[in-house]
Amino acid sequence: MAGFLHPRRGGLPLSRTVLILGATSAIASALAREFAAHKFDLILGGRDREELSALASDLSLRYGVRTAILLLDALNTASHASILGSFLSEKGHTLEGAVVCIGELGNQAKGQSDWGEARRILETNFTGCVSLLNILANHFEARRAGFICALSSVAGDRGRQSNYLYGAAKAGLSAFLQGLRNRLYHAHVKVITIKPGFVDTRMTYGRPGLLLVASPERVGKGIFRAVVKGKDVVYLPWFWRFIMLMVRSIPEAIFKRLRT
Ligand SMILES: NC(=O)c1ccc[n+]([C@@H]2O[C@H](COP(=O)([O-])OP(=O)(O)OC[C@H]3O[C@@H](n4cnc5c(N)ncnc54)[C@H](OP(=O)(O)O)[C@@H]3O)[C@@H](O)[C@H]2O)c1
Repeated sequence: MAGFLHPRRGGLPLSRTVLILGATSAIASALAREFAAHKFDLILGGRDREELSALASDLSLRYGVRTAILLLDALNTASHASILGSFLSEKGHTLEGAVVCIGELGNQAKGQSDWGEARRILETNFTGCVSLLNILANHFEARRAGFICALSSVAGDRGRQSNYLYGAAKAGLSAFLQGLRNRLYHAHVKVITIKPGFVDTRMTYGRPGLLLVASPERVGKGIFRAVVKGKDVVYLPWFWRFIMLMVRSIPEAIFKRLRT
């Protein structure tokens, strides 16, 4: 693993085990394959026991790494301390870091009149993730080592009429991660924010008008690289940084008139 040490560039001495929450996501599965190909053992977290078990067996068979699953639901925040907290107090010492891939685009149009849908989008992408990230943050802060990576989105960089419930939750998540990075810097824990553009997953399947759609494999490799290099905020693919720079620079007086 010596090739993965980049101490002078603020990178991480990577080894051992990584926890991935939302592991059944297409992006997370691609990332899990990337970690496994580099001989990391994996804990795959999520709410679908069958899918997680199938993924865990596949990774173990293909790459000869050890895998286990952890069942949790982001929306059941009351259970997080007992499930994730207990797991970390028992097995957390083996963890190099954690990646939170949980997310749900939801139905913007429905959410505008149905509070249940709006709340599900906000809670899945923001409060549910924050509840899990708080537990992870306290764990790694106490250990004074490790990394926390989470998938936000370019949708959080500017509110658009087509997805502003999801975008608002991701904007909140990005701000949370920014503050967390500032806090954990002093405990030598890296916090990495990933902002993907459009990715070809079940989240975007069948949605019209998507441009520059990337494969989950490309994004998975990008996340792995970002973790290894100990980056702060990474747009994936890279050109989204410049697209969003342009999108953010459009004056509000003009932006509000656009059909976005
Ligand atoms: N696809 C894109 O264009 C895109 C762009 C920017 C950012 N992202 C972000 O990338 C991440 C991965 O998304 P993806 O595109 O790979 O979509 P995906 O395949 O739909 O994955 C979503 C993941 O979130 C999990 N999840 C949803 N609600 C949950 C809950 N209540 N409890 C636990 N897990 C829950 C899903 O688990 P189940 O399998 O149990 O449903 C699944 O693992 C998300 O955070 C998403 O917001 C995606």
